[in-house]
Amino acid sequence: MDQYCVFGNPIEHSRSPFIHQQFAQQTQQKLNYEKKFVELKGFPQAVKTFIAQGGKGANVTVPFKEQALQLCDHLSESAKQAGAVNTLSFIKGEIYGDNTDGIGLVQDLLRYNISLAKSRILLLGAGGAAKGVLLPLLAENPANIVIANRTVSKAEQLCMQFTDKRLQSCGFDKIPQQPFNLIINATSASLSGTFPAISPQLICEYTVCYDMVYGKELTSFLQWARIQGAEKVIDGLGMLVGQAAISFNIWRNVTPDTETVIEALKADLAVA
Ligand code: ATR
Repeated sequence: MDQYCVFGNPIEHSRSPFIHQQFAQQTQQKLNYEKKFVELKGFPQAVKTFIAQGGKGANVTVPFKEQALQLCDHLSESAKQAGAVNTLSFIKGEIYGDNTDGIGLVQDLLRYNISLAKSRILLLGAGGAAKGVLLPLLAENPANIVIANRTVSKAEQLCMQFTDKRLQSCGFDKIPQQPFNLIINATSASLSGTFPAISPQLICEYTVCYDMVYGKELTSFLQWARIQGAEKVIDGLGMLVGQAAISFNIWRNVTPDTETVIEALKADLAVA
């Protein structure tokens, strides 16, 4: 049976095996997908071993996405632009790297019928997660994207790297005080139950707030946004399933249905 896995550290709580097994069942593909814990210095060796064992492909998660890029013989445009790889394919002794995170986010937003064209977007965070979604978001023709980060220089660096007139950078206290159509929390603050201190004035009745993090409960950012009267609050569950579906398609050349898997995952989280 064809072998796939996800490499990460930590990896215990990864939902990727659940998602890919659902995709495999749905599309009648015979494959096995496991999670693999990797020591911080052991990533290149872990990939080598998996290939030697006949692995066909792998997902890569925190903190190995940048290292994964270094291992690849071929990179997709999205991997190059994101500077990170979350999907590896092992074909005839060569390693192909892709990044499906950004498209996964955009597809999830479109699934909610959120129109991105001409919209004003606020992106909170300037780490790997923010960087990976910038170009897929720009491709949807927003009016502008303000990148706000705790460390302002990192937001500035992103703007310099992408050189697009529609990008603007600042700290959380200098965000232009006008409501946004869409606010995306790409910081890892939600993982520790906090969120960036932004002004409530940035949210109005047409603002959609999205957190890339998901869990059984709404993240603290989304709870706060809801109280401020946001039109809609959405967590990162759909992005997770969306990016997995694109990886699955890269490996198996078949597109699984995400809706049923999102529902199954929600049900699974509710009883967890
Ligand atoms: P990831 O791959 O998840 O983006 P990362 O590259 O380490 O991880 O980036 C984490 C992001 O979350 C950064 O933008 C970080 O801000 P700094 O650049 O100032 O470190 C942001 N972040 C983490 N904890 C935060 C907090 N408590 N408040 C605000 N921003 C936070």
